[in-house]
Amino acid sequence: MTDTIDIRRATISDAFRLGEIGAATFTDTFGHLYPPEDLADFLRGAHAPEAWSRRLRDSHVAAWLAEADDGSAAGYASAGPCKLPVPDLESNAGELFQLYVHRRHHGRQLGSRLLETALAWLEAHGFDPLYVGVWSANDGAQRLYGRFGFTHCGEYEFPVGTRRDREFILRRA
Ligand SMILES: CC(C)(COP(=O)(O)OP(=O)(O)OC[C@H]1O[C@@H](n2cnc3c(N)ncnc32)[C@H](O)[C@@H]1OP(=O)(O)O)[C@@H](O)C(=O)NCCC(=O)NCCS
Repeated sequence: MTDTIDIRRATISDAFRLGEIGAATFTDTFGHLYPPEDLADFLRGAHAPEAWSRRLRDSHVAAWLAEADDGSAAGYASAGPCKLPVPDLESNAGELFQLYVHRRHHGRQLGSRLLETALAWLEAHGFDPLYVGVWSANDGAQRLYGRFGFTHCGEYEFPVGTRRDREFILRRA
């Protein structure tokens, strides 16, 4: 199925679609964890089209959209300079900000392909080391990042509305 899914760099004109798939996949994965108000607050900040437009205009940030044959969005990833609260963060540290695949496409290597694309871009742009933040209970994603050489190096609290989630910080040198 994924061999019919193309991954391409997202442009400003994809802001609305990224907001749509960003909100849909976050809600699908984590929505049950939060009170509706906290979830809505988070989605307004993180996945409004204006938020994506701002990100896509930033020349240091990149996003990729995976599209199925029928034109629907199957997944996305984004990356750029590391913003995680890492003590003594290296000046050229990079971060995988987001990696999400629509549930109906899970388990068919699309997440790995998006991850490879983002890592190749980060490396080509001189980011080193690389970091990713992942929910402490997201074992599946941690296994995936582990296969790509990321190891646990710290923790922080990720705000979703009034909630604070325990997040692991993973690093790949
Ligand atoms: C993580 C994710 C992008 C992987 O995409 P995918 O296309 O299914 O991944 P691949 O087919 O390339 O690789 C499968 C691996 O993904 C991970 N995975 C599988 N299902 C998962 C799930 N429901 N949630 C998180 N990770 C999962 C596992 O490591 C799996 O391999 P394993 O079961 O052999 O250990 C996808 O599962 C997803 O979007 N999950 C929900 C959002 C999420 O957790 N994103 C990461 C936030 S840090």
